[in-house]
Amino acid sequence: MSTEPLNETALPPLGKTRKTHYKPEKGHIEIDHVTVDFGGGAIAVNDASLEIMPGEFVCLLGPSGCGKSTLMNTVAGFVHATSGSVKVDGVTIEAPGQDRGMVFQQHSLFPWKTVCDNVAFGPLMAGEGIDSARATARSLLEMVGLSAYEKRFPGVLSGGMKQRVGIARALANYPSVLLMDEPFGALDAQTRAMMQENLLQIWDEFGITVIFVTHDIDEAVFLADRVVVMSASPGRLIADIRVDLPRPRMPAMATSEDYIKAKQQCMELIRVESLRAFEQQRATG
Ligand SMILES: Nc1ncnc2c1ncn2[C@@H]1O[C@H](COP(=O)(O)OP(=O)(O)OP(=O)(O)O)[C@@H](O)[C@H]1O
Ligand SMILES: [Mg+2]
Repeated sequence: MSTEPLNETALPPLGKTRKTHYKPEKGHIEIDHVTVDFGGGAIAVNDASLEIMPGEFVCLLGPSGCGKSTLMNTVAGFVHATSGSVKVDGVTIEAPGQDRGMVFQQHSLFPWKTVCDNVAFGPLMAGEGIDSARATARSLLEMVGLSAYEKRFPGVLSGGMKQRVGIARALANYPSVLLMDEPFGALDAQTRAMMQENLLQIWDEFGITVIFVTHDIDEAVFLADRVVVMSASPGRLIADIRVDLPRPRMPAMATSEDYIKAKQQCMELIRVESLRAFEQQRATG
């Protein structure tokens, strides 16, 4: 077994296909009056409507249990709306599909496959030959800075590295939409900051539409073009805050007026909704 150190900090070099040079055309999401009622009095999402343009980065923020994952899962195709519809590029979502990649809070890598073969799995399932699928996997692993680990197994990687493999895997079928459900929630602050910058580089390269669920207001404001805030259960969309910070985003921007303004708006909304959620959970739980 190789003894090279598990290097968390190396960021991959930027490629030549940056989004700033072209306008993404795919990844248009239309969430139209979506309600999800799980029965037994649990309405998880209440009449949510949201349009996301190709290439936009939207963060979904809200108190625990408000319906963020449920709403995202209607876009992924794992959950069906009780009423309303979700379309991606004009096509109504009925089931998961290769046009939408998903990254979860806890990695879901196959422990018995190498890092390379984990990432190659999607293209292989889509009918690519093994050599071509592995070549795709290698180019994506380079983007997330993990080329040196392609032959290793997930068990020897750190949490941040596993999430980077998860991102590479979600991108392996070149989806037009990337759905991320608290992907950095379990990481320490430093690794998280590094992952955020890496993700923004990849987003810029791919010109992909991102919906990113988080509890962390700073993370939402740092990453997003728009921060969409959900109310306490039953989850409604109560605010759509545009973040007018230039790109590429830099950590130093956290002291700028626009950053602080967006953060304060989010904090006020989240404080009120989190208190409501807490009271609800105390009353019903
Ligand atoms: N499959 C299900 N069946 C029944 N109820 C569900 C199901 N999935 C979620 N719920 C309920 O729907 C509501 C919203 O859950 P959801 O997981 O979407 O919230 P969330 O905002 O993602 O929470 P968290 O921030 O804690 O991840 C909760 O009350 C939850 O108990
Ligand atoms: Mg959730």
